[in-house]
Amino acid sequence: MKILIINGPNLNLLGQREPGIYGSSSFDSYLPELCRRFADTAIEYFQSNVEGELINKMQEVGFTYDGIVLNAGAYTHTSIALQDCIRSLKCPVIEVHISNVHQREEFRHKSMISCACKGVILGFGLDSYRLAIEALRGAKE
Ligand code: DQA
Repeated sequence: MKILIINGPNLNLLGQREPGIYGSSSFDSYLPELCRRFADTAIEYFQSNVEGELINKMQEVGFTYDGIVLNAGAYTHTSIALQDCIRSLKCPVIEVHISNVHQREEFRHKSMISCACKGVILGFGLDSYRLAIEALRGAKE
């Protein structure tokens, strides 16, 4: 299986950014652990702070890969362009969030992309990414 994990804006700062909410590990230190755990799955990683770059990347892999795990960061709550993109792809997209957005500010309760995604996993810290990969693997079996 081939899976792409995509992190959106400000998620390059994981480990430094609001550690009380997002934890103290960087994504770069977590990723090798994830790859070891799913040694039979090719896991690639892409991060961008730019909405159009997230769309370009999803269009690039979304017709050939087996799934995308997407943490769109704050674009989750605003981006119809991401929703349209997800709807256009062949592969399933799982929306993930590190924090439980429903326990946070009201503006984070609305997702513009959930309706286009296969499923949503949130609130489990970095483990949300592992759970999303489990879900994609389960769906493929
Ligand atoms: C987030 C939640 C979003 O509301 C926020 O804008 C982020 C991170 C999360 O993973 O918990 O950047 O997607």
